Amino acid sequence: MKRKTIIAANWKMNGNLALVKEMSQQLNALQISDNVEVIVCPSFPYLSSLSDSITHGQLYLGAQNANEHDKGAYTGEVSTDMLKELSVKYVVLGHSERRALYKETSTLVAHKVKTVLEAGLTPILCIGESEIERVSEQTETVLASQLQPVLDELGIEAFEKIIVAYEPVWAIGTGKTASPEMAQATHHFIRAFLAQVNESVAAKVPLLYGGSVNASNSNELFAQADIDGGLIGGASLKVDEFITICSTAKGLN
Ligand code: 13P
Repeated sequence: MKRKTIIAANWKMNGNLALVKEMSQQLNALQISDNVEVIVCPSFPYLSSLSDSITHGQLYLGAQNANEHDKGAYTGEVSTDMLKELSVKYVVLGHSERRALYKETSTLVAHKVKTVLEAGLTPILCIGESEIERVSEQTETVLASQLQPVLDELGIEAFEKIIVAYEPVWAIGTGKTASPEMAQATHHFIRAFLAQVNESVAAKVPLLYGGSVNASNSNELFAQADIDGGLIGGASLKVDEFITICSTAKGLN
């Protein structure tokens, strides 16, 4: 099954206008392998200037969150229509930081996936286990419990338009990357879990790995059979490093 390689930058609550300028200049000038797509997800205030700066045909804009409602009295929130006006194509949903710090449940995340899909945007649905869950061999149960509400609410067909990002919480920002073998085994589980419902949809779902990906480990991770790219935090804030990750990624899956 031929799938694209997707490299997505999650800047989290970092970056500034200078980074927008430098990153977009460097990315616009980049030779990116065919079948590789690069997505940059800055904080909301920078979407507009990044949108104006992007000229590369394989470069897309993503948001880090969206509200589950279309509009209304939700102070501080951002709607999918607003994101669309800024040429956003992707929305990161259910990141472990939002689950842990802002108490987003898998049910809420499923509602957000629905709203984002209805708006014609592509969700990047993040799932992942904590260290204690990994050690106590709960990883598969946790991942299934994060995927199931989306299946229940939207059905397997929704996964034709969803990117799944597997981000083990213990690997985020810690420098502790899952080994390529461990990441591959978990990605294989995720694909097999979806394949129980529909094999052909499961075979097409892009599965990204996230958690301390950098220019030294990215290619080995992305070479695994069920790993279709990465969701990159810290290393996506360093222009040279992110450029290396994008320019050396091969769309070979
Ligand atoms: P790091 O790459 O900094 O570990 O962050 C991963 C992440 O959370 C991306 O969404």
